[in-house]
Amino acid sequence: MRFLITGHTGFKGTWLSLMLQQRGHSVSGLALDPEPGSLFDRIALSDHFEHDIRGDIRDPEVTQAALSTVRPDVVMHLAAQPLVRESYRNPRGTIETNVVGTLNMLEAVEATESVRAHLVVTTDKVYRNVGRVAGYAEDEPLGGDDPYSASKAMADILTHSWITSFRGPPTAIARAGNVIGGGDFGKDRLLPDIVTAIAAGQAPVLRYPESVRPWQHVLDCLQGYLALVDAMVDDPDATSHQGAWNFGPGPESFVTVSAVTDLAIEFFRADVRWEPDTTPTFEEATLLALDARKSTRELNWRNVLPFRDAVEWSVDWYAAVLQGADPEETTRGQINAFDQRVRDLGEPT
Ligand SMILES: NC(=O)c1ccc[n+]([C@@H]2O[C@H](COP(=O)([O-])OP(=O)(O)OC[C@H]3O[C@@H](n4cnc5c(N)ncnc54)[C@H](O)[C@@H]3O)[C@@H](O)[C@H]2O)c1
Repeated sequence: MRFLITGHTGFKGTWLSLMLQQRGHSVSGLALDPEPGSLFDRIALSDHFEHDIRGDIRDPEVTQAALSTVRPDVVMHLAAQPLVRESYRNPRGTIETNVVGTLNMLEAVEATESVRAHLVVTTDKVYRNVGRVAGYAEDEPLGGDDPYSASKAMADILTHSWITSFRGPPTAIARAGNVIGGGDFGKDRLLPDIVTAIAAGQAPVLRYPESVRPWQHVLDCLQGYLALVDAMVDDPDATSHQGAWNFGPGPESFVTVSAVTDLAIEFFRADVRWEPDTTPTFEEATLLALDARKSTRELNWRNVLPFRDAVEWSVDWYAAVLQGADPEETTRGQINAFDQRVRDLGEPT
């Protein structure tokens, strides 16, 4: 099948593009240029795309032109400003990219006859966080206490309104939480911060050491997105998978930032201890967990890498690449190992 991924130059987009290529699909992308030193940049992935389109989704002519050029069967919309802290610094830019950008994609997809499935990626942060430990299910109220969460909740509601108002192609919303994995070099993210500190022989500095988060490996999250896309494409009714789907790990993966850091330091065999950050910082939501039972029940999806494995696979990736391993081979190797594990567990790939 022919896929168009927005945000293909980003962390998830790079892993997703490789997964799709390894499964024999034609992949095109629409995004801004990759950040220097990002995984996309290190792999020099550009050559692997049918169309590697660089453009700004805030411009409706750019999104329409991308759809007209690629004429995809499947659109996976991941492009976003994805950082909470950056959204405090630049709320307008975050809203424009995450909300207007999604509007532009919805309109462009609606106008493109080839599309059989459209997946819009939002986040667990769309839920109104009432401080509950049990996971939030898809039909629970949305909210957004910071500009990023609000922008994603708006994109989510906007997508829902397109599903109920217009006769475009089948459209679904995927909500997942924090993901970890090799090759994330984004700023303000825990694992990249730990890796950078350890590589420099310094102590990792933690902003919220006692915050509990649900940790998931990027491959488990992307496997969920693809299970949903497969279900939409195979669906004879075409519309029965529309709406929102959660892809989160179970409670065994609800672990403090400090415990993840301790485990990463252990896997790195590094002789450092983390330190708490004492500078004033922005508010971040307390634990937000997802109830993913609908995805398990209806898509036969579940998390394949338990918490310890998710941290170990992530550390293994960085350790190998820091020691000179080829990032593309390392990434492809982990995708193959993951697919093998899925097959061993008897899950659909
Ligand atoms: N990484 C996580 O832990 C996490 C958790 C929940 C949800 N998400 C969501 O997953 C998606 C991908 O996140 P990521 O971690 O890969 O982010 P990332 O920052 O690594 O990548 C973002 C991508 O979006 C593109 N982009 C940003 N602004 C754009 C614009 N104006 N026009 C065109 N392209 C633009 C970038 O070029 C890049 O390709 C986002 O929608 C994010 O909100 C991520």
